[in-house]
Amino acid sequence: MDSSTPSAIPDTLIKSKTERGREQLKETKIRIGVLASGRGSNLQAIIDACKDGYIPGEVVCVISDKADAFALERARREGIPAIFLDPTKYESREEYDGRLVEILNEHKVDLVCLAGYMRILTPRFIDAFRNRIMNIHPALIPAFCGKGMYGLRVHKAVLDFGVKVTGCTVHFVTEEVDLGPIIIQIPVMVREDDTPESLSERVLKREHRAYPRAIKLFAEGRLQIEGRRVRILPPNK
Ligand code: GRF
Repeated sequence: MDSSTPSAIPDTLIKSKTERGREQLKETKIRIGVLASGRGSNLQAIIDACKDGYIPGEVVCVISDKADAFALERARREGIPAIFLDPTKYESREEYDGRLVEILNEHKVDLVCLAGYMRILTPRFIDAFRNRIMNIHPALIPAFCGKGMYGLRVHKAVLDFGVKVTGCTVHFVTEEVDLGPIIIQIPVMVREDDTPESLSERVLKREHRAYPRAIKLFAEGRLQIEGRRVRILPPNK
């Protein structure tokens, strides 16, 4: 799809009644696949938001490139298929991503959420889920992002540069690392006595709000991409 053409997202949703029958929720449930390499606190925030009905959707599989990722353990505890896909078993990144696409399709995933996933996706993967991949970054993009900007490095760079406001960003994933259309940003004030660790902790709390919110908007069909901009449409009555 041409990224300059407004795209209604998503049209692949499965209609179903919400358990509580609450009228204000749109009666659709999306199927979410999460890719994670680490502790999975964002994954947990997404799972919890699905369970309590905030997101009209469910996490249907969690895939990791690390056998010991705690994210996989979190998935198992929730009874969600937890899949370790070993990168050393594939000859190229393309082959690895090809298998990822297959698994996500086998689980009929509507939306792919990257939550601390440490591998850069190939164009093949991005094409297969065009406008249906989200990522979260612990800074206000386009600052402090791109290759090599992850984990505490981001917060150290923020403090070294001396900015007074940082935050987190949820964005759609395109071929350019961290530079896809921005869905939501939440600011966090930098404090005089902040360390990379303290800042990371406060930003993470905001991440746990921002990610479920972005997914909810997607699930409700309220995100419209126009070039670089993501318009948030009013709720459907
Ligand atoms: C988060 O800070 C996220 O912004 C970044 O990686 C970290 C993952 O943390 N992409 P967790 O695994 O979700 O706890």
